[in-house]
Amino acid sequence: MSRRFVVAGNFKMNLLAGEASALAAELRAALEAEPPACEVILAPVFTSIHAVREALQGSPIALAAQNVHFESSGAFTGEVGAGFLADAGCTHVIVGHSERRQLFGERDADVREKAKAALDAGLTPIVCVGETLSEREAGQAEAIVLGQVASSLEGVDPQRVILAYEPVWAIGTGRTASPEDAQEMHAAIRSSLLASIRDKVRILYGGSVKPDNAEALLGQPDVDGALVGGASLKTESFLPIIRAAKH
Ligand code: 13P
Repeated sequence: MSRRFVVAGNFKMNLLAGEASALAAELRAALEAEPPACEVILAPVFTSIHAVREALQGSPIALAAQNVHFESSGAFTGEVGAGFLADAGCTHVIVGHSERRQLFGERDADVREKAKAALDAGLTPIVCVGETLSEREAGQAEAIVLGQVASSLEGVDPQRVILAYEPVWAIGTGRTASPEDAQEMHAAIRSSLLASIRDKVRILYGGSVKPDNAEALLGQPDVDGALVGGASLKTESFLPIIRAAKH
């Protein structure tokens, strides 16, 4: 089984263009000095994509957007279609992040349409799923997450996406799923996929990944990388997480 690790930094609505490109340049220099064992992806705010692209020109660090509209073009004021992201230099896009689901009302059907639009434009969608605290406390975590996976990927080839399990209660809270809880959910997600492909699909963990817990989380057999929020905003906290992703 050879799934290459992925470590992605989701800047969320942080870092102005100059700050994001300075961070990208710093990471680039560090990773050129000592190449990482994993794929590295940066997801800045839309308006910083251009500046980050310039800073990453010629480097293997990939560029992602944090959202995409499912229509390709037309009268959709304020939206950004997948072709525009590809044109801006993105190779990946995060879809269905829990903040989009919770704060902006995105449903699995939207996530699915966005994933399809991304694939049509040649982008790799990073499809996020995760349960809330009340769902976990009610013993429904697995059912909710597997339902999100099935519904968000209906008609989508799972081999063409990267999955990210981000328990909502662990995002930005400093609370992390224990490595065992993360492993249990990742294994359940993997088992829910077709047997012929399940070993090829990468499933990232996200939710308060920090330098001091990255190694334990990434050491789990079904955790194939990390989707990092807060700790991705500084080289000194993001780099050790990248270094913890050893294959
Ligand atoms: P934090 O790492 O800040 O908890 O955010 C996780 C996340 O939502 C990444 O997409």
